[in-house]
Amino acid sequence: MKIHSAQFVMSNSSVEQCPSQPLPEYAFIGRSNVGKSSLINALTNHNSLAKTSSRPGKTQLINHFIINENWFLVDLPGYGYARVSKSAKKEFQSYIRSYFKKRTQLFCAFVLIDIRHKPQPIDLEFMSWLTSNQIAFYMVFTKADKLKPGAIKTKVEAYCQEMTASLWETHPPYFITSSTTREGCDEILNEIDRLNGELRAHL
Ligand code: GTP
Ligand code: MG
Repeated sequence: MKIHSAQFVMSNSSVEQCPSQPLPEYAFIGRSNVGKSSLINALTNHNSLAKTSSRPGKTQLINHFIINENWFLVDLPGYGYARVSKSAKKEFQSYIRSYFKKRTQLFCAFVLIDIRHKPQPIDLEFMSWLTSNQIAFYMVFTKADKLKPGAIKTKVEAYCQEMTASLWETHPPYFITSSTTREGCDEILNEIDRLNGELRAHL
């Protein structure tokens, strides 16, 4: 899929105030600093559509971007950011979860995972929460440019093995990406294009 246009629409902290157009929507979620905002920029070929930072905790609201005037990408705050207060963390958690539960336009989520790290309880817990709320998701391994090809394969295989050894019968479909090299970006866009087509065929 080619991106002809990508525009910021709005930021807010409440699912009730999100855009009302009935367009398919894809949300990017994961731990702070995993590279959600950077991946949105890489997917859309923009340097600064979504705000990024080397310091975790940059994205603090639900951010909608309209793509090709007919679907939304959503950049969310990271979970597991240690440096915000307990009450702020609770508030994030509550509006992120209510976004996932109530947003009827949400077609599926992309859960980002730093490819260098072994499975973290917070990610596994969030993915099981999505599963128990019947929210479809893909895993996206980020920052692949930081590892050699052999190490990428080993890390991904170990991650998937741990998932199937614990809660899941099969691991969810996944993408291996780098916002620096754009690895995996066309694959994600093609999948979104396929899903948009699927959705429209059912309308
Ligand atoms: P929060 O908004 O704080 O939750 O973080 P985020 O997940 O949106 O991360 P962000 O995109 O702001 O990136 C965090 C840091 O990781 C920045 O310094 C990025 O430049 C860096 N980064 C993100 N993606 C990649 C990648 O694919 N490769 C490399 N080498 N660095 C990356
Ligand atoms: Mg961000």
